[in-house]
Amino acid sequence: MVETIHPVTALEGSITLPGDKSVSHRYGMLSAIAEGTSQLHNYSRGADCHSTLACMQALGVRVEKNGTDITVHGVGLDGLCAPAGSLDAGNSGSTIRMLSGILAAQPFATVIGGDESLSRRPMGRIMTPLAQMGARLQARDGKFPPIEVTGGKLQPIDYTLPVASAQVKSCVLFAGLFAEGVTTVREPMVTRDHSEIALQEFGAEVESLSGTITIQGRPALTARELIVPGDLSSAAFFLVAALLRPGSRIAIQGVGLNPTRSALMDFLAMGGARIRIVNLNQSSGELVGDVIVEHSAWRGGLLEKSMTASLIDEIPVLAVLGAASEEGLSVRDAAELRVKETDRIATVAENLRRMGIAITVREDGFDVPGKQKFRAAKLDSFGDHRVAMAFSVAALAADGPCEIEDAGAASVSFPEFYTMLRGLSR
Ligand code: S3P
Repeated sequence: MVETIHPVTALEGSITLPGDKSVSHRYGMLSAIAEGTSQLHNYSRGADCHSTLACMQALGVRVEKNGTDITVHGVGLDGLCAPAGSLDAGNSGSTIRMLSGILAAQPFATVIGGDESLSRRPMGRIMTPLAQMGARLQARDGKFPPIEVTGGKLQPIDYTLPVASAQVKSCVLFAGLFAEGVTTVREPMVTRDHSEIALQEFGAEVESLSGTITIQGRPALTARELIVPGDLSSAAFFLVAALLRPGSRIAIQGVGLNPTRSALMDFLAMGGARIRIVNLNQSSGELVGDVIVEHSAWRGGLLEKSMTASLIDEIPVLAVLGAASEEGLSVRDAAELRVKETDRIATVAENLRRMGIAITVREDGFDVPGKQKFRAAKLDSFGDHRVAMAFSVAALAADGPCEIEDAGAASVSFPEFYTMLRGLSR
């Protein structure tokens, strides 16, 4: 699908965002292995989160869908069944990596794979710890999907993550649910802690202190009724759009503001963005609030070290804002961007250049000078949802309409994106 985005003068209005992708995955998986019937509200409509539900169904879990209300009839820790065929994680790295932790403990072998993009993403990072716990794993060329996970009885481990990755941390913690004893994961930098929070909600014993997380094996997980907070990574596109267009003001209700995810707010505020957070409250362990953003000049800045890791998914749209900022944006320590749904350093640079924006690319990041103007161009998502949405935002500030090739990729995390964007455009 090609989407034509017209420039807008301003964005105005109030929106409520669909459920967070990261939280939806975790609720989908944990409710399936809890005892009893869970009700999940505001579950993401994104294709990725539905890949997770489809995998759980293929493993014998009954799931009923009523829009964004999902009922999951949990089968307990020992209730999953061997699937009839291989599991399809679609485009979803979270599904294949986190679910492999659960598959590693099953008394059967499962093959799990996905689309072309997923088939290029590295799986060695989950294969190493799961093999240490006692599972047998085989992958294409030793490291790419599809992977065959032959499960069995697992040993607890004490594992230091070589890369800061919440998916890998979650994979080991989920496997740790099935091992007798205490599994420990140590992370080099704090990553999103939705798994730790969700595990506690479902009744697991999890402790976390200064980057060391422990989980007690064989807990009784019990069904819950949970509301997924609005997706902060989806909010990022509207925040940047409002900052780009003079006269804009957007209120976003019920956004998940978990402190391990909200570095974006700090980074934008540090550069002078006018963003206010109101009605902060706690919902099922997650911090939620309303965010109000008004157009303001953004200075730009340097993104590096742990800050880069905490807002890795927001970098494509920040690159767009960087080009319009006063002093530009520099990104370092972001080599992980090269192994996302696309090589996001390459796909962001390609689209910026098509719009006449200068960018200097490095192996682990880039520099985008500020005070640049966006030229209308033919753009391409390259099949990456965040690239599709980031460049739809850039197109709002271009000097004419832009066409975005494969814009439908946005539906991986945010099928409602274009409708919401049009609803706010003035
Ligand atoms: C995610 C973790 C991050 C992020 C991804 C979702 C999660 O990936 O980029 O979109 O839900 O745990 P890594 O774990 O590979 O850093």
